[in-house]
Amino acid sequence: MKIAFFSCHPYEQSFLEAANANHRHQLTFLSQSLSPETAPLAAGHQAICVFVNDQLNTPTLQTLANLGIRLVALRCTGYNQVDILAAQQLGVRILRVPTYSPHSVAEHAVALLLALNRKTHLAYQRTKRNNFTLDGLMGFDLYGKRVGLIGTGKIGTAFARIMLGFGCHVLAYDKVRSAVLQQLGVEYLPLNELLAEADILSLHCPLTSETHHIIDASALARMKPGAYLINTSRGGLLDTPAVLAAIHSGKLGALGVDVYELEDNFFFSDWSEKELPDLDLNVLTHLPNVIVTSHQGFFTREAMQQIANTTLNNLTYVEQQHLPEDCVVVG
Ligand code: NAI
Repeated sequence: MKIAFFSCHPYEQSFLEAANANHRHQLTFLSQSLSPETAPLAAGHQAICVFVNDQLNTPTLQTLANLGIRLVALRCTGYNQVDILAAQQLGVRILRVPTYSPHSVAEHAVALLLALNRKTHLAYQRTKRNNFTLDGLMGFDLYGKRVGLIGTGKIGTAFARIMLGFGCHVLAYDKVRSAVLQQLGVEYLPLNELLAEADILSLHCPLTSETHHIIDASALARMKPGAYLINTSRGGLLDTPAVLAAIHSGKLGALGVDVYELEDNFFFSDWSEKELPDLDLNVLTHLPNVIVTSHQGFFTREAMQQIANTTLNNLTYVEQQHLPEDCVVVG
């Protein structure tokens, strides 16, 4: 099969080429992100492959369908960037990678939490300038703290296990309760109680119409003063202006985000020589008690291998007509 890979960075190509050794598809790597304007670059291919910030909206799907392309492989788990109805109507099949190293994202969430708590990012800057003072760097023991999770699927479970290992009390809110986590001592609570109880809140649910801005002004008002908030899931879970107001007022003690609601305009690109035309993102990147990473939770060697393998397997399975159900988003 001839496949055009959009938003493809050099660091991904070697993983995709290695995985393709078992498949012998014809791969075209494009650095451009997918849009109605760039979609024609896929002409002559049977499928395209895209990443988290490639918007599969109606005009883009229409352009692809006009080119005769009715197969899209997402090399990610989440599919909130897909207009599902438009894909169904146009007969465009959408596949995804249902699971790949949940540890990669869970460990990144822990990295954000540890850095914010022990101020490693600030200490690093100080010692680089031979400033060995400790003022302002005091953290707290994680041991014994109450850690709240929204979403206890694969990543939430991996995160919960790490936090239990630190000696934290893990509380959770999910529509589906995990018996395994309950056996490990995780306590499920209604959302409002979870918000009120947690010293640290970490988000691990997908972005849906139900979870959009799940952390808004009223949710923040319910949280403990000085609570830490970690979001490695999707930017749209946070109402960013409300979160910024909570940081400014001290209601939130710290914020660690690997995702941002408008990230597709900025993430994975170098803006260091340009003025960032997004005031909220500018403020977030400059606050000392905020760490922003640019959607790198997935970015480990193991996860990259699994993403490449599953993506190419999915495309081969289409040819062989035995696609695993959990890989199908539409089709
Ligand atoms: P999963 O499907 O295994 O788990 C999601 C959990 O959220 C499920 O237990 C589900 O019941 C729960 N959930 C769904 N709707 C909910 C609601 N309204 N309220 C509470 N809980 C709800 O997904 P997984 O693999 O754990 O991934 C979670 C999210 O992490 C993905 O949707 C994606 O947005 C994000 N992600 C981020 C990455 C990164 O690089 N930062 C990489 C991969 C995923």
